[in-house]
Amino acid sequence: MQRDLSGRRALVCGASQGIGLETARALASRGAHVVLLARREAPLEALAARIVEEGGSADVCVADLDHLDIQGIPADLHIVIHNTGGPPGGPLAAASVHALEASFHRHVGSAQAILQHVLPFMTAEGWGRWVNVLSTSVYEPIDNLGVSNLTRAAMASWAKTLSRELPPGVTINNVLPGFTDTERLTALAAGRAEKSGQTEEAVRESWIAQVPEGRLADPTETAAMIAFLASPDGAYVRGQSIAVDGGRLRGI
Ligand SMILES: NC(=O)c1ccc[n+]([C@@H]2O[C@H](COP(=O)([O-])OP(=O)(O)OC[C@H]3O[C@@H](n4cnc5c(N)ncnc54)[C@H](OP(=O)(O)O)[C@@H]3O)[C@@H](O)[C@H]2O)c1
Repeated sequence: MQRDLSGRRALVCGASQGIGLETARALASRGAHVVLLARREAPLEALAARIVEEGGSADVCVADLDHLDIQGIPADLHIVIHNTGGPPGGPLAAASVHALEASFHRHVGSAQAILQHVLPFMTAEGWGRWVNVLSTSVYEPIDNLGVSNLTRAAMASWAKTLSRELPPGVTINNVLPGFTDTERLTALAAGRAEKSGQTEEAVRESWIAQVPEGRLADPTETAAMIAFLASPDGAYVRGQSIAVDGGRLRGI
């Protein structure tokens, strides 16, 4: 097993909570120096301190990806985990053109800007890893998440196209979380419960009923797949979209 990331520098976007937070811990535990990016400084500082306590190394980059705010991001990165807040819910037919553009800008726009910022270094090193955190909607659109379905498909196509363009040694892949027990899912359950008159527990049970594994994912499980793709062991996996969904997707 070649999991060691000593000497590698990794950017983890959306690191202040959830899947991004656990991904930062996973990469740091394998020896990478992690740069923690999100809009809120306090949780990033708390995570950096926790990673140092756990024997790792981290620093903080406060930035808003909605504004392509990337000047504080170092260019000498070996690993980028692109991850940010999901687009707002609702049917596609009801979404404004502005909502489509804003979501494209947040996801594809920020990924493109960061890629162009770091690619010269990865190319010179002959080693790079890029992992996008998307959604199972890449394979099966999810009802009532119209803008998200569209944006995730665009990101998957962005990554597949790049997997044909990037130099040898620089890979790009997507991880597709299923129902994952993060702050986002808790907020979604609360929203659904309020709308439907169900309890939050009942909303969660209705999600779990769709999952052959019979439970929600822990974000450390999603992070483990991301860390694998970012590791030396992941070197020959390129241009793939890998679901970590407890078997919920039905397609072969
Ligand atoms: N949890 C699930 O069940 C699930 C399922 C399918 C797909 N996903 C997707 O997977 C991704 C991660 O999920 P999660 O549950 O960990 O999400 P989350 O709890 O909502 O976390 C999102 C992270 O992105 C950061 N962020 C949001 N907007 C940003 C911006 N404009 N600029 C910079 N950072 C920003 C947030 O930090 P700040 O607020 O501090 O900026 C936070 O750290 C999301 O795209 C989500 O939609 C999640």
